Amino acid sequence: MQDAPVRFPAGFVWGAATASFQIEGATTADGRGPSIWDTFAATPGAVAGGDTGEPATDHYRRYPEDIALMRELGLGAYRFSIAWPRVLPGGAGAVNRAGLDFYDRLVDALLAAGIEPWPTLYHWDLPQPLEDAGGWPVRDTALRFAEYAAVVHDALGDRVANWTTLNEPWCSAFLGYAQGVHAPGRREPAAALAAVHHLLLAHGLAAERIRGGRTADGRAHRVGLVHNQTVLRPHTGSPADLDAARRVDGLRNRIFTDPVLHGRYPDDVLADVAAVSDFGFVRDGDLATVSTPIDLLGVNFYNPQWVAGDVRGVDPAAVEQGDGATWVGSEDVRFVLQGLPQTAMGWEVDASGLYDVLVRLAAEKPGLELYVTENGAAYDDEVAADGAVHDPQRIGYLDQHLRAAHRAIADGVPLRGYFAWSLLDNFEWALGYSRRFGLVHVDYPTQHRVIKDSGRWYARVVRSGEVPP
Ligand code: NOJ
Repeated sequence: MQDAPVRFPAGFVWGAATASFQIEGATTADGRGPSIWDTFAATPGAVAGGDTGEPATDHYRRYPEDIALMRELGLGAYRFSIAWPRVLPGGAGAVNRAGLDFYDRLVDALLAAGIEPWPTLYHWDLPQPLEDAGGWPVRDTALRFAEYAAVVHDALGDRVANWTTLNEPWCSAFLGYAQGVHAPGRREPAAALAAVHHLLLAHGLAAERIRGGRTADGRAHRVGLVHNQTVLRPHTGSPADLDAARRVDGLRNRIFTDPVLHGRYPDDVLADVAAVSDFGFVRDGDLATVSTPIDLLGVNFYNPQWVAGDVRGVDPAAVEQGDGATWVGSEDVRFVLQGLPQTAMGWEVDASGLYDVLVRLAAEKPGLELYVTENGAAYDDEVAADGAVHDPQRIGYLDQHLRAAHRAIADGVPLRGYFAWSLLDNFEWALGYSRRFGLVHVDYPTQHRVIKDSGRWYARVVRSGEVPP
């Protein structure tokens, strides 16, 4: 049976997303300084295949070609991130005009192509000198971020209306400072919790600065945060599983959304991690800054997860080993696979999770505009003999998730836009170039780009505002 077509509201924002370190390459061009990801990728064993930020998709040089691809896809908006180490190679101090100019040219070229720029100020490439001075666990990094945000805002604010501060601070804090699988590769649970707070403080300081600004043509600047709100379903209804789901929800979701949306850390989370940290890094006034009103919230969604506090009796093959969920105060928690279809990341596909995320956030902060700032899937794509990339699984994934998003809108969720992850195949962090998320295939040795079947399908959706039957 065919699904009926679904039509999105007029004015819905259709885009695609990328991030600086994942696509730009040119890691030493025009005075760019090193970031923690350059250092991490140079560490033996840290990134699959020994892959680095070079050449990535060489977007720093090929951005005009990539904007032409965006036009072919009919995108109305493009979410990208700005590399702090291009703008301030030392993390603070002297501005590197040549680095900033790249984003100036990019914004101009996007606007000339009729594409709305949606910059993210931080997508994980912290300048290495700031990590050397302590990184996100120290307060000073948040203050330096506010200065950096002001530099970029001054430079692009005449043309850019929609701003997001941080991308997925959970990853920066917990993958970077607790589990150590992302840069800077530290395994210090207390430092991870301090990083949470200083990331949120950085967000608040930047948001205070950006709000109130206007573009040259009079549009008010709007600011938000991009959060990977996770759907955590208890594997069973047992008290152990329910409590595990509560704890992981606390450390994945509420430790970020409670301070930003409500100006407080959740009591149960503070109790859960009390043995690790007393949160003594929170100073008077911080939470007022962190909860500076935002105009929009970006939601990155890929997959729901099922949580168990007790895996006795669960098929060991279904238990994700050594996971530890958040690696702070939840080391006993495990994720349990449900036997659903998986992407090449091993992530189970269940679009109802996107619906659940959107409905929950809409209920939590009524009226706050929501955007899906990332959603997509990795599959093992290949260029076929006919020169095309046939990726029906990705089309299926996008189709299901757009239908779930549409259902949320129909049920009253103020979802205003959707950005596919990603425009291009790119550097998938610790997995290097081994996972392909793009709507556009990139052959890394030649840098040849081919719009995948999913990209052509998405272009039809964008042009018609409708998910076809
Ligand atoms: C979220 C991150 O923001 C992005 O950088 C990453 O590539 C995707 N998830 C896929 O893992």
